Amino acid sequence: MPYVSIKGTGSAVPDNIISNHDLEKMVATNDQWIRERTGIITRRVCDEKTSTFDLAIEASKNALDMSGYKGSDIDMIIVSTTTPDYPLFPSTGALLQNGIGADNIPAFDISAACTGYIYALSSAYSFIHAGMYKRILLVSVDCLTKFIDWTDRSTCILFGDGAGAMVLEASDNPDDESLLAFDIHSDGSGKDLLIVPSGGTKTPINENEIKNKNQYIKMDGPGVFKFAVNVIVKSLTTALHKASLKKEDISYFVPHQANLRIIDYAAKKLKLSSDQVMINLDKYGNTSSASIPLLIDEINRNNTLKKGDIIAAVGFGAGLTWGSAIIRW
Ligand code: COA
Repeated sequence: MPYVSIKGTGSAVPDNIISNHDLEKMVATNDQWIRERTGIITRRVCDEKTSTFDLAIEASKNALDMSGYKGSDIDMIIVSTTTPDYPLFPSTGALLQNGIGADNIPAFDISAACTGYIYALSSAYSFIHAGMYKRILLVSVDCLTKFIDWTDRSTCILFGDGAGAMVLEASDNPDDESLLAFDIHSDGSGKDLLIVPSGGTKTPINENEIKNKNQYIKMDGPGVFKFAVNVIVKSLTTALHKASLKKEDISYFVPHQANLRIIDYAAKKLKLSSDQVMINLDKYGNTSSASIPLLIDEINRNNTLKKGDIIAAVGFGAGLTWGSAIIRW
């Protein structure tokens, strides 16, 4: 049975920075409130010309460069996103196949909101372990700011745009195994906690929907907060158990970057010290499915990670969806 080795990581964010002070000029909020309630200071926001594909291809090229492979060496592309360039088709995966110059390999998108990376990683793991594909490009990318009502202070302060990518490869050596365990879930009964109500087949966009701003993200912030703190430690504990590891074995905690208070709560429960808890939401805000691989790329490139380190990654988001991955570097 082939094992899965991580050969390269990459990421991309748009150039445009929006600070809390910039937001003070747009909605009734202030820098202190945003910092204290979320931990966010700035976020990166795509301009009109920049799309999900633009960030995805940049992150992909960075990951490919690090891996030493070319686009034509890849035999599958898996993308997690809920904000593709086109609402129905073509998929971001198909666009990337052409963009990186890959052969006519399979390429597709997964929709699991902010848990997208965990879902995509577990899919890549399954395809490689099953022996079906040998070298997979995984890209988690979102441009949620394109679906934000910039007059809604309960959502516009939270989100940013970004992409994270990885090149994963089959290996015959068990020591190369990077993906030790997963735990993934969904609960559609919580669909209304975080939703874009119109623009799909249930409620197409019309004048009335636009008047009610239903084409934008609607969120019950405290409801999502409660859900997140309920599931993340449970999910990580399950994944650690599946990997035959304990909390004490975690080298780095890489949680979905949504809110510093959610991260602090989980870190306290897991008894982690601050140097084990990886954070970049102060700079980027919540980049949805990109947040975990964007952070992994950052700590990989700044040489934080050593071979054998155990990364405990946990994601949660709309759906509801949530899940964890235990990664051995
Ligand atoms: N600036 C200033 N005040 C704000 C504000 C803002 N941007 N947003 C809300 N407030 C106000 C509210 O109106 C409320 O005022 P009131 O007490 O006079 O009614 C007060 O602050 C508290 O609001 P509440 O919504 O209870 O705040 P909170 O502490 O729950 O923080 C979130 C709000 C959104 C930051 C927090 O709930 C959160 O992060 N939830 C999780 C969201 C998330 O992670 N979503 C993505 C999941 S992938």
